[in-house]
Amino acid sequence: MHEHKYCWQQVLLHWVSAVVIVWALVSGFYVAIFDVEPNTASLIGFVNVSLTTLFIPLFLVRWLVRLFKPRPGAVHDDPAGQLIAHLVHEGLYWVTAVVLLSGVLMMDGPIDVFGWFTLAPLLSDWFWLAAWSKLHIVASSLLALGVLLHVGAVVFHELSGRRVLRRMLP
Ligand code: HEM
Ligand code: HEM
Repeated sequence: MHEHKYCWQQVLLHWVSAVVIVWALVSGFYVAIFDVEPNTASLIGFVNVSLTTLFIPLFLVRWLVRLFKPRPGAVHDDPAGQLIAHLVHEGLYWVTAVVLLSGVLMMDGPIDVFGWFTLAPLLSDWFWLAAWSKLHIVASSLLALGVLLHVGAVVFHELSGRRVLRRMLP
């Protein structure tokens, strides 16, 4: 049951996504929660908006790969375990989609991608900008919770002798 692995495309996309998402979560909340120099805060904001905007097409590719490429068989023998793993993985995709969408829609000015190109903001109504911004914070918090749960589950499985990590390694 554990011989099967994710294909190299899924492995590559998983780890690139993990780095981008964990960085955006940790640095984003760090700047929001702690007293950070205004220069540092705006640099992190600039880098994160650029990086996560570039991440959007990659995320769409990943979602397509998930839909169309077969995955390795379930780690769990019991239907309840299979359901929970399925719900958390599915949830991570959907919550990430909401974080990305709300991030783009909360922008009140041009989206500057590393000074390379800019995208015009989609909304200008103050009420909706504020609403998407609130949703961005709520969805990011949910995503952080989901990632903690996910990493906790990986550690738990490895400690219980179920080698899940190697399924997601080349
Ligand atoms: C996986 C993708 C993303 C993650 C994990 C993420 C995470 C975060 C977090 C944790 C915060 C701080 C929230 C708070 O105030 O408590 C934040 C703020 C913000 N995010 Fe995102 N975000 C993502 C994508 C995006 C995208 C695509 C955009 C826009 C193109 C965006 C624009 C912003 C902006 C403008 C802020 C406010 C920062 C500031 O105060 O200057 N985010 N994000
Ligand atoms: C940073 C430490 C992380 C570790 C150690 C890790 C590890 C793993 C492992 C071992 C699997 C395969 C599970 C299986 O055998 O079925 C997996 C799958 C998955 N991981 Fe992670 N992961 C990490 C971060 C993340 C992050 C930040 C996200 C994004 C929100 C994420 C999203 C997912 C998803 C959605 C799957 C299911 C893939 C699919 O079936 O399409 N992971 N992860």
